[in-house]
Amino acid sequence: MDTRSPAHVGIIMDGNGRWAQSRGQSRPQGHLEGLKAAKRIVKAASDRGIPYLTLYTFSTENWKRDVEEVSFIMALVRRYLRAELDFYRENGIRIRHAGDPSRLPQDIAEELQRACEDTRDFKGTQVVLALNYGGRDEIVRAANRALAGAPFADGGARFTEALIRSCLDNPDVPDPDLIIRTAGEFRISNFLLWEAAYAEYYISDKFWPDFSDGDLETALDRYAARDRRYGGLRGGKGPAA
Ligand code: IPE
Ligand code: IPE
Ligand code: MG
Repeated sequence: MDTRSPAHVGIIMDGNGRWAQSRGQSRPQGHLEGLKAAKRIVKAASDRGIPYLTLYTFSTENWKRDVEEVSFIMALVRRYLRAELDFYRENGIRIRHAGDPSRLPQDIAEELQRACEDTRDFKGTQVVLALNYGGRDEIVRAANRALAGAPFADGGARFTEALIRSCLDNPDVPDPDLIIRTAGEFRISNFLLWEAAYAEYYISDKFWPDFSDGDLETALDRYAARDRRYGGLRGGKGPAA
């Protein structure tokens, strides 16, 4: 496999509100444009053959926002999940979920599950929607799944990296190689804390609704030029090697 091209790209899609504000528009308008950008980038990633794309859509902390804004974002998610099945089919896109479905409105949790099931056999890009997702929350849920499982039932078992990894939301999805964040912020905001241990970062100053296919290409080009050492020396092997 070409290691210059990431197998898994994660995107912290930030700046919808500032995009709207800079135009004298409402925050919901920004989220609407953000959805269009997400669709554009999913298509671009699929056309480029990127195997995995994780989109940070709604964090476990985003519930702190006004109920109107939260409801608007949830309505957009609902509409997107329902309307896009043909698009997924045409492009072979498989939908997955990361995050805790239990706090989502029940119909959205069901739509999400349906989208995941309907696209399960598609062989193109796997798009992981991080929805009610928090990195710490995922690790806590993973630890609780591990405790509930067989290794601990008869006592004496210990946590290992492999055990926790196997209990994450999508254990078969490889760690992100590249994490893109828009809107110029240099922080991880609780995204993929476990998985991002050796991710490369690319920060774009653009607000998410303005992020284009060309910007994705630039991020991929920058990634291709990085020397990933994983704590070793030049041209090193992955963290598990
Ligand atoms: C990202 O845009 C979308 C979500 C977090 C749901 P923001 O809504 O955070 O936009 P800013 O950061 O306020 O500009
Ligand atoms: C991160 O953006 C979450 C998503 C993009 C869904 P935030 O806007 O919530 O992050 P902070 O508050 O700037 O750290
Ligand atoms: Mg933000």
